[in-house]
Amino acid sequence: MSKVWRLLVAASTMVVAGTTDTRAQQAPAVDMKAADARAAATVKQMTADEKVVLTHGIMPLPLGGPTPPIPSDAIAGAGYIPGIERLGVPALKETDASLGVSYVMGIRKDGATALPSGVAQAASWNPDLMYRGGAMIGSEARAKGFNVLLAGGVNLMRDPRNGRTFEYLAEDPLLSGILVGAAIRGIQSNNIISTIKHFALNGQETGRKYVDVKISEGAARESDLLAFQIGIEQGQPGSVMCAYNRVWGEQACANDWLLNKVLKGSWGYKGFVMSDWGAVPNIDAALKGLDQQSGEQLDPAVFFGDKLKDKAAADPAWKARLDDMNRRVLTAIYASGLDRSPVKAGGKIDFAANGAVAEEVAKQGIVLLKNNGALPLAKSAKSIAIIGGYADGGVLSGAGSSQVHGEGGPAVTRPIGGKGVWAGFIAQQYHRSSPMDAIQALAKDAKVTFRDGRYIADAVEKAKQSEVAIVFATQWTTEGLDVPDLSLPDGQDELIAAVAAANPNTIVVLETGGPVKMPWLDKVAGVIEAWYPGARGGPAIASVLFGDTNPSGRLPLTFPASEAQLPRPKLDGSDWVEPDFSGGPSSGSDKLTADYDIEGSDVGYRWFARQGAKPLFPFGHGLSYTTFESTGLKVKGLTASFTVKNTGKREGADVAQLYLVDRAGQAKRRLAGFQRVNLAAGASQNVSLTIDPRILADWKNGGWTMPAGEYTFALGKDAETLGTPVKVRMPAKTWKD
Ligand code: BGC
Repeated sequence: MSKVWRLLVAASTMVVAGTTDTRAQQAPAVDMKAADARAAATVKQMTADEKVVLTHGIMPLPLGGPTPPIPSDAIAGAGYIPGIERLGVPALKETDASLGVSYVMGIRKDGATALPSGVAQAASWNPDLMYRGGAMIGSEARAKGFNVLLAGGVNLMRDPRNGRTFEYLAEDPLLSGILVGAAIRGIQSNNIISTIKHFALNGQETGRKYVDVKISEGAARESDLLAFQIGIEQGQPGSVMCAYNRVWGEQACANDWLLNKVLKGSWGYKGFVMSDWGAVPNIDAALKGLDQQSGEQLDPAVFFGDKLKDKAAADPAWKARLDDMNRRVLTAIYASGLDRSPVKAGGKIDFAANGAVAEEVAKQGIVLLKNNGALPLAKSAKSIAIIGGYADGGVLSGAGSSQVHGEGGPAVTRPIGGKGVWAGFIAQQYHRSSPMDAIQALAKDAKVTFRDGRYIADAVEKAKQSEVAIVFATQWTTEGLDVPDLSLPDGQDELIAAVAAANPNTIVVLETGGPVKMPWLDKVAGVIEAWYPGARGGPAIASVLFGDTNPSGRLPLTFPASEAQLPRPKLDGSDWVEPDFSGGPSSGSDKLTADYDIEGSDVGYRWFARQGAKPLFPFGHGLSYTTFESTGLKVKGLTASFTVKNTGKREGADVAQLYLVDRAGQAKRRLAGFQRVNLAAGASQNVSLTIDPRILADWKNGGWTMPAGEYTFALGKDAETLGTPVKVRMPAKTWKD
């Protein structure tokens, strides 16, 4: 991408008369170039033995089976790469993930602050808040002695049944890229490294190590890869973690096209590529662009140690590659200041202050999906029935490597059985933040009762006796296992329908990993999507219910009306049997294909627009307790300007959304810019957005192309509800990355 356009992209979320905190924009840029020069000098001083120190490492955990010796300075976490003392190079101490410092299958007991899930964070559409969240979790990683946070999960949500939807951000590349970039900047402001992951096209957990993604280069560049590209430009992560899946038959961690051609070639990335855990197929992955083998005891062999040293001794091409691998790891270390500002375990954590950050993220991420006027609830309510979702105890969290264990441990733990990569290591966990206590604290005089919802008749009875019934409905999701469909599990639909029939003032609070179907939607008075709301989810939910917080979250992904509307009505591999390599008889196969060319770059709302399908709730949807109007859209070149007005009676935040709707006579729906705006009642704000030209372009013939013609834009309340279209003529243009 040319320098001018790079600047335009960097400015793409600025408000001319800005109202928002601009910390995200002010974060010092990581100077990869200077770090790279220093790294090159260090590589010159390295011995042959030293050159295979930074290239591989263990998972410093007793996992069962043969465990390599765990060095005394390693901390229980996801990864450990020894340092080189002679050269002042610190060891890399790695922990998961994007929601906070993870608890590593229960081995860590020290507690950390859990941010709401990734999708909840993204529902804020607020880069500044992403930055603050990142800075907070990065500070906790640092205080616990970690200098690498395995964060930055930004796979596009191609399928809402993906078990890791909760960890990722959005279905749109612009939104995902800007938000992940801000989070990474926040994390790295602690002088630690953040990853961006999982590169790339890691769209489902079913058969995740085998699934082979087919997608044309153009479609990939305009969607999943664009999210990474923008995230890397804006966040400058020290490391990119490659993915488990295959792309065009090659493992993503040994994929020349992804790693050498796109990431390091076209994008000029200077940091290092680390593998996902157990994702390295062979030593040749080094030539394909992988720089570091992580969690090596999970791979078939330690490829990047002595074997690599031998190759380098015998072959100049391997030697050059090995030097480059070291240079890249060192570049990340120097750029993030790991050596200047060494981490030390035992730092103080201000859990109260950090909890407040998590609560603010939850408040801005909660989405008011439906309101017939029953919300906000009156604090003077006399009786409130709370039903289901363990809402007396806490709020649900998602599981897998990103699981955070809150201070004092979970409120509720429900063991789960059999299926999925993480089965046996995980349980359903509810963070210790009771919505019921928070509701009682706001509705002081109300008689608040709780029923767990297991017995519908009992819940109905309580609902009948109460002014308001609030049903907490949960959908637990985890890394390693996709959900079979978009229905709420365990008969919760029946429960909600029965309660709603008994009490017209029924509000549903959803704690879900992603979209769910709502067959009872017409019967309830209100629905809020609270996602997995993190360490302080209880007070955040109560605050929205009673109107202390005016809801401002917007859906970062489409809620389909049914699975039949998806590009793949049936998830690829849902009836596939994992291969058994133990030598025993196996009915499994390692052949599993995901055809992403069905939708191409038209992921999520773009697919719905292309099909003319009506979702349950569109991308970008979210209600408020006030009303907004966006008017006066003008587009001049790549600049769009307009005015947002709060036309209601109370303060609130709107998320202005600009969509491309037609390009040179061809319908095309793409989010072209967005801005969150806080407005007092009656106040208005001029907004100016600079459009990233890649959003308007196609990737073909090795570069970006914009056809000449009329480009039609519209402001949208969401991806479906669009205002007056505005046309602007654009010249033809082509350019390289
Ligand atoms: C996950 C990564 C994670 C790594 C280390 C893998 O299973 O896919 O996201 O960072 O484990 O825990």
